Amino acid sequence: MAKFKVAVIVGSNRRESVNRVLAQALTKLGADKLAFSFVRIDDLPLYNQDLEAELPKSVARFKSEVAAAEGLLFVTPEHNRSIPTVLKNAIDWGARPYGQNSWNGKPAAVTGTSPGAVGTAIAQQHLRQVLGDLGVLVMGGEAYIGFKPGLIDANSVIADESTRKFLSGFVDQFATLVARFADPHRAAA
Ligand SMILES: Cc1cc2nc3c(=O)[nH]c(=O)nc-3n(C[C@H](O)[C@H](O)[C@H](O)COP(=O)(O)O)c2cc1C
Repeated sequence: MAKFKVAVIVGSNRRESVNRVLAQALTKLGADKLAFSFVRIDDLPLYNQDLEAELPKSVARFKSEVAAAEGLLFVTPEHNRSIPTVLKNAIDWGARPYGQNSWNGKPAAVTGTSPGAVGTAIAQQHLRQVLGDLGVLVMGGEAYIGFKPGLIDANSVIADESTRKFLSGFVDQFATLVARFADPHRAAA
């Protein structure tokens, strides 16, 4: 059977994003079970309902990539104790136009990292609420990762053993959830 397709959405457009570094490390941990692809959100226009009459190309591409995914992995920073604007913007585009919600019925996992003490916990709680309202089943549990220089090496390997073990369990749990949700008629390959 082909690996399950997971769309990875990073809530930061920053070139040196530590959340992108964490996302890359997670995709490495889960590469034997899941086929990950990073979905761009940095080219989406600021949401405006007027644009729904003729969806911008980047929005149509984004929505079709989300629709094609069998699972969603969100890795996000926290901005002012909530969801970063770029991520909320992407979520809003995914949910629109009315009746064309690309998120509905997908399993998802949420994590994030921050140098701050609460490790994105509040942003993750807000994200869980929004995704739940959109029909996404978000995996239970908590994964708040405090970022320190050297946590993840240049080869996307998590250097700290206890964090590596913890995140390995997180990815395994997510792979199990995605498999349970997958279309039972999915073609074997
Ligand atoms: C606008 C803004 C707001 C921030 N608010 C928070 C916050 O509420 N909690 C927190 O832990 N870090 C906060 N930070 C610090 C981020 O955790 C830090 O910039 C982190 O590197 C962002 O992740 P990234 O590197 O993936 O972009 C904020 C940063 C910015 C730019």
